[in-house]
Amino acid sequence: MGIENLKTTLKNEKTGNSLILKTPLIGASGTWGYNVEYQDYVDYKYLGAISTKGITLEERLGNVGERIFEVFGGLINRIGLENVGIEAFISDKLPILKENNIDFLLNIAGNTIEDYEKLALIAQTNNIKALEVNVSCPNVKKGCLEFGLNPESLYFLISKIRKVYEGFLIIKLSPNTQDIKSLATAVESAGADCISAINTLRGLGVKIDYINNKFYKKTVQGGLSGTCIKPVALYMVNQISSAVKIPVMAIGGISKLSDLFEFMAVGASAFQIGTANFSNPSVIEDLAIELSEFMQKNNYKTFDDLKKDIKNG
Ligand SMILES: Cc1cc2nc3c(=O)[nH]c(=O)nc-3n(C[C@H](O)[C@H](O)[C@H](O)COP(=O)(O)O)c2cc1C
Repeated sequence: MGIENLKTTLKNEKTGNSLILKTPLIGASGTWGYNVEYQDYVDYKYLGAISTKGITLEERLGNVGERIFEVFGGLINRIGLENVGIEAFISDKLPILKENNIDFLLNIAGNTIEDYEKLALIAQTNNIKALEVNVSCPNVKKGCLEFGLNPESLYFLISKIRKVYEGFLIIKLSPNTQDIKSLATAVESAGADCISAINTLRGLGVKIDYINNKFYKKTVQGGLSGTCIKPVALYMVNQISSAVKIPVMAIGGISKLSDLFEFMAVGASAFQIGTANFSNPSVIEDLAIELSEFMQKNNYKTFDDLKKDIKNG
């Protein structure tokens, strides 16, 4: 069965910058590796793109100790942005993406404005067509979240990135805020082409064991993800899409066809799938097939027609 009906274009109407996606389904950063890691589970023709593991200027080893803690409906991670660094990404990972014709968003994170500028310049120099800027990682000690929660500093940061990077610029927002609308409008006026939301929520996992008349406590603090965060993501996407004109990519607890519909109803133009890949590594292929079949059965010729109908429903 063909899935040509899933093709969609995300467009910043103001600048004309656009991103063509084979399907609106994207593997979320940190859950999809760098390139071909999922090839035994997913036919990549069903993928709109991969968002790469978050890349920093230097290699990072991440946090020591327990990094993943399962909770009801999701998990808490404290990976701490382990990644190979931009130099190794360009020399070792990028060629594989190119050889395999894999569309991708380069996800970046930094500690300082200069870090972000350098990374964006490297992306520009290497002709990388889409950049996803993480200003929202809650599980590293300093850096990105500090920029991400203040509209003025966020505007300043994005303006600096926009000056050096001409491709499709996506800003990934944090849900750990009282005022997502101000952050979204700051991002749009600084020249971004798209907003992706949400990153993980701050969470704490606690495990109590009672052994030989004694309690043993374990706690893991990090970023909460998975189906349990979907209502928060729906709220945030709704707020963002009512505040800006640029397209919004929904992220947060997506695993079913009905999730796609719910996010479309609140203004999403594409979807990123994260934690669900861990329990079903073929989830993106499954969703693409289900979505395409639904459209054929119900005479929707294009994904945009479907989106419009659901939004107006
Ligand atoms: C193990 C793990 C690692 C992640 N690493 C990153 C990262 O490096 N950069 C980033 O922007 N988001 C990262 N995220 C956040 C996800 O991309 C996504 O925003 C979040 O998990 C919510 O989506 P989900 O509920 O579908 O997982 C990570 C999430 C998980 C679970």
